[in-house]
Amino acid sequence: MLADIEAMRRQALQELTAAADSLELENIRLKYLGRKGELTRILRGMGSLPPEERPRIGQAANRAREEIEAALEAARQRLREREKEERLQKEKIDVTLPGRRRLRGHLHPLNQVLKEIKTIFLGMGFAVAEGPEVETDYYNFEALNLPKEHPARDMQDSFYITEDILLRTHTSPVQIRVMQAMLPRLPIKIIAPGKVYRRDDDATHSPMFHQVEGLLVDRRVTFGDLKGTLMAFARQMFGPECRVRFRPSYFPFTEPSAEVDISCVMCGGSGCRVCSYTGWLEILGSGMVHPKVLAMAGYDPEKVSGFAFGMGVERVAMLKYGIDDLRLFFENDLRFLKQF
Ligand code: DAH
Repeated sequence: MLADIEAMRRQALQELTAAADSLELENIRLKYLGRKGELTRILRGMGSLPPEERPRIGQAANRAREEIEAALEAARQRLREREKEERLQKEKIDVTLPGRRRLRGHLHPLNQVLKEIKTIFLGMGFAVAEGPEVETDYYNFEALNLPKEHPARDMQDSFYITEDILLRTHTSPVQIRVMQAMLPRLPIKIIAPGKVYRRDDDATHSPMFHQVEGLLVDRRVTFGDLKGTLMAFARQMFGPECRVRFRPSYFPFTEPSAEVDISCVMCGGSGCRVCSYTGWLEILGSGMVHPKVLAMAGYDPEKVSGFAFGMGVERVAMLKYGIDDLRLFFENDLRFLKQF
């Protein structure tokens, strides 16, 4: 029996030295030390031995088990070391790889254009004013000489909260709010940028868009001041070659009124698809503040006069960058936004 144990011990140690991976180690462990393994088989045979021999055999079996267990642990250690070595060999770090670049954001193209518009008017001495987007019928229409049932209201259908409260359809109500707040001080010289809302939705109209209102009220303000101001704006915004054209128009809150065109930014005025072969692009509405509007705000139209204008920021941005679909501004597609 001692010889059996010795043979088993030797065989096990030999197999352990040769084992190539942890699965093999586990099989060897089961084969010799497992519940149905060699050692168990030998120990079971002890029952047939004379009692005085049993301790000797038992001790030999225990020693063999300890030796095999120690060898197992050594083999495990050896395999772990080897696996680590192999991993290190494979995992070479390429220090020449470029680093990961941090993505830098920037202002939305509309805010870039808005910033430019503000800078130009601030340079001419205008201040920036703001008004609420949720507006009353009075400021949005009534005080701008657009009484209820006025046909010009049809062009500015909006989103109503109640009969008398709506999302403003233009930035013109800020004119009234500023005049009331300033009364009786002069001059009033502001621009009012902000969001406006209308029941419109297609490639050139969005239910929400941006306008910049302008208002100058003082003594002896003339149409010439309006022309000079808008010409200076157009040249700074679109380049020194830009020309400006005033066309007679109608707005209830100005008299006389004009629509303002700039020479086409694409063709310079010779005619192309962008300007429908007219050479001109409309950019804003304007006029001399209507005497009734001045009077409603508390100013005496016999003593003061003013000009006003309103431009669409999306429209200016589309012309400046040659964008043909306004909806691109609001889809937040990075492929579009990254170009600015
Ligand atoms: N509020 C007008 C609109 O949204 C634009 C406008 C026209 C504003 C003439 C003005 C102006 O201040 O004088 O269509």
